[in-house]
Amino acid sequence: MLVGKKIVLVVTGGIAAYKAVTLTRLLVKAQADVRVVMTKSACEFVTPKTFSVLSTHPVLTDLFADTTDPAIDHIELADWADYMVVAPASANFIAKMAQGIADDAASSVVIARHTGIAIAPAMNSNMYQNPAVQRNLNQLSADGVKIMAPEQGQLAEGYAGIGRLAEPENLFAQIGILAETDEKTLTGKRVVVTAGGTQEPIDPVRYIANHSSGKMGYAFSQAAVEQGAQVTLITTVDLTPPPFTKVVHVKTAQEMQAALMQQYDAADVVIMAAAVADYRIAEPATQKMKKQADASGLTLKLVENPDILAELGAQKSHQYLVGFAAETQQLLDHAQAKLKKKHADLLIANDVSQADIGFGSDDNAVTLLFKNETPETLPKMSKLEVARQVLKLIKPRMEEA
Ligand code: C5P
Repeated sequence: MLVGKKIVLVVTGGIAAYKAVTLTRLLVKAQADVRVVMTKSACEFVTPKTFSVLSTHPVLTDLFADTTDPAIDHIELADWADYMVVAPASANFIAKMAQGIADDAASSVVIARHTGIAIAPAMNSNMYQNPAVQRNLNQLSADGVKIMAPEQGQLAEGYAGIGRLAEPENLFAQIGILAETDEKTLTGKRVVVTAGGTQEPIDPVRYIANHSSGKMGYAFSQAAVEQGAQVTLITTVDLTPPPFTKVVHVKTAQEMQAALMQQYDAADVVIMAAAVADYRIAEPATQKMKKQADASGLTLKLVENPDILAELGAQKSHQYLVGFAAETQQLLDHAQAKLKKKHADLLIANDVSQADIGFGSDDNAVTLLFKNETPETLPKMSKLEVARQVLKLIKPRMEEA
């Protein structure tokens, strides 16, 4: 994603400046072309030499340095960039950005930009929570600057609080998505994705579950975020969510249904990748069930769960509805029947009897059944690639609908 992307990394003063070194390495490893600009105080923490060696380019530190390299002029550098990142962003630098002050090389490059920009605030928690800093961050957000939020944790001052710069790997993942300048097909759209198998309680310690890993749903969330969508992920599993994703944790089908209903009116696309249990225990025991004294066995009474997708289909107005059909036999027949019964716009059929694809696997091979169209098969590929391809195919159909 970052291959060949021209990224200006602005490093401002703070102990977290050392993390920008690893970030530079990660960006360069991903084949981004990185040029670094440092503020005077950043140079107190890390030397420009470190960044120039890692980025293989000279580092801009001074507006008035006598240089013969034209690419290091601050305007040329701003024009050159495809994306800008400020990490770490100090309270002082954030204030300057919010006010439009350009009194050194770093702030001048930032003001001269024509690209998107993401900043990673990092400072002491009291500084971070100061109303002036929060006001400036709100102003920057309103100006379209992306904020890569700091984390809770141990601060350099020896106590815990919010304000720590996110780990370089985390920043790198966020930048990968933000710097994607390909046309974002889902900008402004709200996408709701469900993931994982529901857990239907038998008693307080046991439940009925299934083999769904949730990976397909997480892949859809990632692909939708990449395309600029606002994503809500309703999940029964706890994998690392993609950046910029709102995560809602649920366990049972009924909880999943309630969470979906809250999102449904505002949603543009709903992707039901979750494996929802068709049945639940009629009356889950309130205390842990004891083993029966005799050997007559145990009978559990099940009642039907709501078919969430079918209910969404019945209430559908503007939403584009995507369901899955995980089958072990007669894949396409069953999937066609579900497409109609559930009033979905697309049913993604996959054969879960094959060990190398489907449940738990990182790969999938699916057949796409768009309403009123002949089936389209995607060969085996990563679940993320499946999700990207499907979203690309959905976009024009959403516009037609
Ligand atoms: O009928 P089946 O369970 O095979 O349908 C699969 C599709 O329907 C999936 O998209 C799944 O998320 C959804 N589903 C549902 N509620 C159920 C069962 C399945 O929304 N109770």
